[in-house]
Amino acid sequence: MAIPEEIINEIKYKNDIEQVISPYVNLKRRGKNLVGLCPFHGEKTPSFTVYPESGSFYCYGCGVGGDVFTFTKLIENLDYVEAIKFLAEKSGVNLPENGYDDSMSRLKDTIYAINRDTARFYHEYLMSQDGKWALDYLVGRGLSISTIKHFGLGAAPDSWDSLLKFLKEKGYTVSEMISANVVGKSQKGSYYDRFRKRVMFPIINIRGKVIGFSGRAMPGEDKEGGKYVNTSDTPVYKKSENLFGMNFAKNHCDERIILVEGNMDVVSLHQAGFQNTVAALGTSFTMEQANLISRYTKEIVLTLDSDAAGQKAVKRAGEILKNTGLNVSVVSVPDGKDPDEFIKKNGKDRFEALLDGAKSEIEYKLLVAVKDIDIDSDDGRLKYLTKATEIIAESNDVLTRDLYLGRLSEKYGVSKSSLSLRVDELRKKRIKAQKKKEISDIIKPKFNSNDINPERRKYPGACVAEEAIMTVLLKNPDFFPEVKEKLEPDKLITAFNRRMYSLIYECLLNDCMPDISYFGEKLDTRELSFLVSLINSDSVQKNPLSVLKDSMKVLDDERLKIEMQSSLSNEDWALNMQKLIEQKQKGN
Ligand code: CTP
Ligand code: MN
Repeated sequence: MAIPEEIINEIKYKNDIEQVISPYVNLKRRGKNLVGLCPFHGEKTPSFTVYPESGSFYCYGCGVGGDVFTFTKLIENLDYVEAIKFLAEKSGVNLPENGYDDSMSRLKDTIYAINRDTARFYHEYLMSQDGKWALDYLVGRGLSISTIKHFGLGAAPDSWDSLLKFLKEKGYTVSEMISANVVGKSQKGSYYDRFRKRVMFPIINIRGKVIGFSGRAMPGEDKEGGKYVNTSDTPVYKKSENLFGMNFAKNHCDERIILVEGNMDVVSLHQAGFQNTVAALGTSFTMEQANLISRYTKEIVLTLDSDAAGQKAVKRAGEILKNTGLNVSVVSVPDGKDPDEFIKKNGKDRFEALLDGAKSEIEYKLLVAVKDIDIDSDDGRLKYLTKATEIIAESNDVLTRDLYLGRLSEKYGVSKSSLSLRVDELRKKRIKAQKKKEISDIIKPKFNSNDINPERRKYPGACVAEEAIMTVLLKNPDFFPEVKEKLEPDKLITAFNRRMYSLIYECLLNDCMPDISYFGEKLDTRELSFLVSLINSDSVQKNPLSVLKDSMKVLDDERLKIEMQSSLSNEDWALNMQKLIEQKQKGN
């Protein structure tokens, strides 16, 4: 059963869209609306728009849109019902205890419970006599008991079914355990514990819930399953959207966040007092992870190996971070060590010093660029200067560029003016290319190449008319009588619009208000975004009634055209046409 409409409306009323969005997005007023940088995709010029009037938002860059519930759902990584609960709690609205849970949110609750019980099971095993092998290992790596408890670290016994038995006793079904991905099913159909004889790192989200696990094999025992076995994506866990350690780091990162590669690095740095450390859970750094970080801090320090893989990772992360507005700096840990080893060997002060000397991204890139070039030869120097000016040209800050150009000129004995001439040229080219891209982005259809309506190309005219009709009805529900008899849903031409229209039609038929939250649960994000774009479009502002009537005529004509085309091959085409014309005359 769904949550009663009055309650949804009350929650919506108490959660003003501007107030809900502003903690996540820096909004600036533009006319009666507000704009900001879209939190759902990287961008430099704001195309994310909030419409207080219709209680909605829409991003012209990526085409995502919705109301306060959709926004909360996307930004907090919740499902629809969870988002409603989240906002209800925030605004002190009581939800009835039962009667609104859908089966997906029930399953999610069960998975959270399984994860919590599983984490306890692993932790208790680690602390027991039987888990001594694992505790010895962790303590041997320098972790204190209080750190182990702080992170809730654990160990999975060397057994195929001890967790399975434990969870069964707790009353969970095997299929629920499989959904949580702590139990697997073999090809022969038997069930087994996914984590065996491993040190276990529970992954905890920013709201303090255990969402998955990362299990490390004992040294030398990583043949079966590899060094790490990780939870695959489940209904409560998406690897690409989470960071290991973020549950703690989010409270200690006013200044900056440190991104490291390994789980062990996170634990060990937290123990040394760097509680602002996170790791990317074995994926390459993603846009979603970057956005999560940018919600909590201004600066990110990448600590990476100085090897080729590390450099590649820096480059990739740098690309992703460029659009988030975060300041990026890079620490390369000396001697090819990871931060965990470094801090154990050299202590936390030395690590602090490394952080303080963290190089700006430019400095780091310049350093990397020099690596394979022989700068003692003129040829090499020229090559390096060519590369270096390209790197400096990427900076949008004139002082930064000036600083590095000065250094280059001093170091390599070339005049600063010739260097800056080249940088200016490069920048002109770049800006031109960027402008071109921005323009083509605007011209591109809203839903990019994968337009939500696959029939738009085939029936462009029909699409426009169908959308105009929906827009008018969404904004002026009182015109429903105009279409109620004359335009039943099956009369629409394109399948996608037919589906959208039939929802609107049904809504109006039942005397409901066609606002965004009415559709929230019935549509997926892209479909809902589409409706939001119609609701907020200013295409149908004047004379909505005549737009409605004209569009209906257009649709009739289009339908006639289609039917004629399909009857052309028919021998009785003349007859058919006669019939169609008669029909049309009757219709008018
Ligand atoms: N990783 C993974 N699967 C692997 C290897 C690594 O998922 N087969 C991920 C893990 O999240 C790991 C991170 O990549 O934490 C970095 O790998 P690595 O540096 O090898 O692991 P550490 O956690 O540093 O482990 P240790 O210091 O114990 O070697
Ligand atoms: Mn390591």
